[in-house]
Amino acid sequence: MKILVLNGSPKRDKSDTLHITRAFLAGMEETAPQEVRLIHAIDRHIEYCTGCFACMRNGGVCIHDDDMAGILQEITESDLLIFSFPLYCYGMPAPLKALADRLLPLTGMAMKKAGDRYVHVGRADVSRLRFLMICGCGFPNSRQNFEPAAAQFRLMFPGRNTILTVPESPMFNAPEAKVVTEPRLELVREAGREYGETGAVSEALLARIGSPMIPEEEYARIVNGTV
Ligand SMILES: Cc1cc2nc3c(=O)[nH]c(=O)nc-3n(C[C@H](O)[C@H](O)[C@H](O)COP(=O)(O)O)c2cc1C
Repeated sequence: MKILVLNGSPKRDKSDTLHITRAFLAGMEETAPQEVRLIHAIDRHIEYCTGCFACMRNGGVCIHDDDMAGILQEITESDLLIFSFPLYCYGMPAPLKALADRLLPLTGMAMKKAGDRYVHVGRADVSRLRFLMICGCGFPNSRQNFEPAAAQFRLMFPGRNTILTVPESPMFNAPEAKVVTEPRLELVREAGREYGETGAVSEALLARIGSPMIPEEEYARIVNGTV
């Protein structure tokens, strides 16, 4: 399977969240050989969308001459697109959001009814593409935290999406926390295996992965002790 990882963390390879993504990919690799490419959004030249809609009117060609045309090409050639990002202000970090806005050329201007809402009609054929969101965050709570990013992802990529969230993710870069992060990464690896085999991850496993690794109060106490 051709997998394209869009890393939204400005910390590049040092991203807390990438620990989760790597474990998921390792699980997928156990089920079949995977071809994985990684893009650090912050390292690419991606201009902001100006909202001119030129791309939607002229067959998908954007007014900007930057790295995005190549990224769109890579996306349309992929089977799985992974958005790997830390939660920033309850959403995705700006470099990745800039990239997400620039996905507009994949659709046309026309809109159609889909269930009880409207969506743009697709221009490029991305029917085989599936979407995975992997998101870490700094607070210990999942509720009242991940919901806006998860809702946005579901609306952007309806039907073929899977969402994996992990709170307390700075612990993945703390060697002293290995006693709790290693078992969590093993669960994520299991999710990757499940996804590789079935194309989905069970709700029960997602819930276990999305729970705090240590009690919320203890995590807050440790963090507060370092500031
Ligand atoms: C600008 C900014 C906004 C943030 N917003 C949130 C937030 O809304 N909720 C949260 O739990 N953590 C928030 N965090 C914490 C990060 O999600 C956390 O540090 C994460 O582990 C960083 O992951 P990374 O190493 O993959 O970049 C924020 C951090 C920054 C720098």
